[in-house]
Amino acid sequence: MSGFSETLLSWYREHGRDLPWRDTDDPYRIWVSEVILQQTRVAQGYDYYRRFVARFPDVESLAGAGEDEVMKCWQGLGYYSRARNLHAAARQIVERGAFPTELEEVKALKGVGDYTAAAICSFVYGQPCAVVDGNVYRVLSRYLGVDEAVDTGAGKKVFAALADEMLDRERPAEYNQAIMDFGALQCVPSSPDCSVCPLSDSCAAFRKGMVEAFPRKARKTKVTERHFHYMYVCAGAYTFIRRRGPGDIWQNLYEFPLIETSGEVEEEALFSLPDFRSLFGSQRISSVRLIERGVKHVLSHRVIYASCHEIKLSDEEAQMPGFRKIPVEAFDKFPVSRLISRFFSIVLKPEI
Ligand code: ADE
Repeated sequence: MSGFSETLLSWYREHGRDLPWRDTDDPYRIWVSEVILQQTRVAQGYDYYRRFVARFPDVESLAGAGEDEVMKCWQGLGYYSRARNLHAAARQIVERGAFPTELEEVKALKGVGDYTAAAICSFVYGQPCAVVDGNVYRVLSRYLGVDEAVDTGAGKKVFAALADEMLDRERPAEYNQAIMDFGALQCVPSSPDCSVCPLSDSCAAFRKGMVEAFPRKARKTKVTERHFHYMYVCAGAYTFIRRRGPGDIWQNLYEFPLIETSGEVEEEALFSLPDFRSLFGSQRISSVRLIERGVKHVLSHRVIYASCHEIKLSDEEAQMPGFRKIPVEAFDKFPVSRLISRFFSIVLKPEI
């Protein structure tokens, strides 16, 4: 065992977190936890994990569930393709008869990449597979002073090889948990408290006074702005929703009728757009109420500026082609984005 691993493990034994997926060797639960934690912090993922495994306690119950039910359980967590893939992979596992045990077979599951496969194989089966995630990039780039960019193909290869070299082959599971907790709690992205770090003496970045310069990225994430205008339509006690299709954000989540514009628009201009007219055709609108506007919703590669209007139709029997007419009270059954959920909760508040 190297000095690095020895110090890391003794730090982990004192400071590591007691997390529910660390008390089990059930591959299903470990897989679910790792998919949740792929793009989510432990503090947010914790309750989702508990709810998910309470609702779907084993791979058979997940495979047998309907898609809306799985998405509903994921509602608010973001990166919804994770839930769709988890569901599809549960069906793959049930079909093959058992949870796979070899790295390559685990990687063949939908939504499972190098990171998740290494986590599963080390935690469940004790295989010597090093995990490489954002925490690992940070800890290793700082400790070893590696200036290679972590967001290029070549850089990723360098770090995968280094992670493999540094792995403690006698205790791969504990080592992997330790390096992730060390990155999440001690070697944090900004202003880490290196004065209490047990590895600082031999940390290359610390010695050079360059901790914040690592890990290096080759490019900035490009963020696109989008402008969404939702219409919460009332026809008596009914409203209209639609399931979002493939090829864009929030695939398979439901939403209210939506008009997207290329920039900001004032209310008056919005209601005279051809898109607005084609949504409502010759329907008679009895009232319009602003629910909220200027809501900034930040996703990984997009910033959405959103508004929502309540549109009351005179005709309670009205239909909107392409939309599902549902009783307002049934709305909660449908999986929706956080943005839609926010607007709906405002709609429900009594008017003052
Ligand atoms: N992030 C990803 N996997 C994790 C794990 N098993 N424990 C803590 N944080 C994590």
